[in-house]
Amino acid sequence: MSKSQTPVETLTQEDAAAELERLADEIAAHDRRYHGEDAPTVSDAEYDALKLRNAQIEARFPELIRDDSPSRRVGAAPSTAFAEVRHAVPMLSLDNVFSDEDVLDFVASVRRFLNLAADAPLVFTAEPKIDGLSMSLRYEKGRLVTAATRGDGTTGENVTANIRTIAEIPQQLPPDAPDVVEVRGEVYMRRDDFLDLQKRMAESGQTFANPRNSAAGSLRQKNPEVTKSRPLKFFAYAWGESSEPLGATQYEVVQRFGAWGFRINDRMVRCASLDEMLEQYRAIEADRAELPYDIDGVVYKVDRLDFQERLGFRSRSPRWATAHKFPAEKATTVLTAIDIQVGRTGALTPVARLEPVTVGGVVVVNATLHNEDYIKGIGNSGQPIREGRDIRVGDTVIVQRAGDVIPQIIDIVPEKRPAGSKPYVFPDRCPACGSHAVREEGEAVRRCTGGLICPAQAVERIRHFVSRNALDIEGLGEKQIEFFFNSDKPALKIAAPADIFSLKRRQEELPASLEGSLERLENIEGFGAVSVRKLFDAIDARREVSFSRFLFALGIRHIGETNAKRLARHFLSFQKLRETAELAKIPEGKGDPGNAEWQEIVGVNGIGGIVAEALVDFFAEEHNREAVDALLAEVTPTDEEPVGEVSSPVAGKTIVFTGSLEKMSRDEAKAMAERLGAKVAGSVSKKTDLVVAGPGAGSKLKTATELGIEVIDEDQWFERVGRGV
Ligand code: IVH
Repeated sequence: MSKSQTPVETLTQEDAAAELERLADEIAAHDRRYHGEDAPTVSDAEYDALKLRNAQIEARFPELIRDDSPSRRVGAAPSTAFAEVRHAVPMLSLDNVFSDEDVLDFVASVRRFLNLAADAPLVFTAEPKIDGLSMSLRYEKGRLVTAATRGDGTTGENVTANIRTIAEIPQQLPPDAPDVVEVRGEVYMRRDDFLDLQKRMAESGQTFANPRNSAAGSLRQKNPEVTKSRPLKFFAYAWGESSEPLGATQYEVVQRFGAWGFRINDRMVRCASLDEMLEQYRAIEADRAELPYDIDGVVYKVDRLDFQERLGFRSRSPRWATAHKFPAEKATTVLTAIDIQVGRTGALTPVARLEPVTVGGVVVVNATLHNEDYIKGIGNSGQPIREGRDIRVGDTVIVQRAGDVIPQIIDIVPEKRPAGSKPYVFPDRCPACGSHAVREEGEAVRRCTGGLICPAQAVERIRHFVSRNALDIEGLGEKQIEFFFNSDKPALKIAAPADIFSLKRRQEELPASLEGSLERLENIEGFGAVSVRKLFDAIDARREVSFSRFLFALGIRHIGETNAKRLARHFLSFQKLRETAELAKIPEGKGDPGNAEWQEIVGVNGIGGIVAEALVDFFAEEHNREAVDALLAEVTPTDEEPVGEVSSPVAGKTIVFTGSLEKMSRDEAKAMAERLGAKVAGSVSKKTDLVVAGPGAGSKLKTATELGIEVIDEDQWFERVGRGV
């Protein structure tokens, strides 16, 4: 390790700049070895010392903080050494809650959704939230056939060979197991096993930061023999696809897993009330240090599986479960500066630069300040927060860190405010390109209007474009992108996503006389012939990508992965989506329905006016169309397979629910109809196919009758669609 010994206090500005650059390189290399290859070459203490030194220099010279500073980055992209597995049922994550009130809200929302009276019985399970990594184990005819990591929730890594080495995971299930069943749970390492392993591995210089990283690294070994030598364990707590119902309650199914030979958590209990849930939370929290494995909260799940089914899912998490996290850790420090970062969509985000402070074992030097109003002491709905206290440079602030979340400033210490401090003035120009930064009506965020000319956005756009859930091009990290972006050599410049795909061609076309020149990638430090070939291969491998990844990769506002998938599933081909978006006319005001193309876009399940507008706006900009054309000359988005149309009596129909419903809440009705392939509208028009009216229905029922639209009541609705959906 090469850490300069010069005390930070005596560094000149020039030395400091040079050292920050060296530290950024060195720490990035360690990150790559640690996260990408699970093979660190320095101890955690040495690594922490590097980070701390970096933080100390940054604290003294905040103006020198680099864009690629290690204090701004977390980890490196994972490797792609394992084959992909598509999950038959997506692996979702859990919503987090932090307070007793949040748990009360969660229980109330479940009751509301299920239309249960306040005193109707409703049982939840409570169990520790294990800090490991989730795993899906697929058994067919009783035999373990595939083990997959969660990955992005839709597609994970196939780690079957490694999983087979874990002694406590059954290879074979007893005869009462269904033909097909996916048992899900957490792979983890006990703390004592982790410490022993650390000792064993110390000689090789390889170490892991904590049991979780150690479990992840041990599982992602290319050689299963290595995994076999690691003390991995597995708790079963959930399931994916199953060819038969597994039981009537969460508790029962998990007990059944226990009978099949899986380890199940002995702290899982059933709770019949909110008080019991909170009591269990406190009991588990009190025993946290004594439990042999790391946990970071308690998970509550609705026990009855018929309720779980009715509750269903939001886009990323089930409505029937939530994670009650242990409290975040807090610390006090001084706010030395407020910098503005420009995100890939042009959002200006204020970042607090802090005197380094340890919060829950991690040195924190940056924290988020969310937005302009947050600094002023104004909340999202315009209400005062922190009793209206604003945040100023020089203030002593309280920093909070919860799990993996970015640290945030939650309050200031008013008595410590220095005399003469001034309120912070938020810039109205983009710090990266100087364009105007504007705040749309009703928006908390100020945005740069520089679009594609803004360098901050360009690098971010390319980074997003190649990121794991977009085009997933390995070898193009932030540093490389910045290098290509900042290069002034025509054979190296990457200014827009399409340039990535012409890079190889431009390099090959360089005249032979340029051998040895710095225009050739392999002569540039950090590249070399092998990595150049790997990079080109990684790029070529993405000349065909799925429509939804391609669309997500474009970085259009409001089009994240979920919306990209929704649009892809509807339009099936990128060309069709684009044509529709280009022809669509955004309605000019209330009462203007827009044209047929607009209607088609907003008719896609889950896509509303805001998303549609962002999409249409994007294709209305000439420079965006040009950028997309340039990309399409290099990359082919493959057509989406039409998913078997949901066959149900209401598939494809537009339904309006009105009046008071007695057997289900409005939310449940809507979720149920959507699951059955119907679209739920808020008002009755000529396009409505069916109105479900409860008692007290008024003007909507009247309009429906006038228009001759079929009207049924709640019982007829259930007769038509059945209860078990
Ligand atoms: S249930 C549909 N139960 O937490 C959701 N998850 O934040 C199924 N986790 O990805 C998850 N302990 O890796 C569940 N007892 C537990 C858990 C648990 C840890 C992890 C799991 C999941 C993450 C969500």
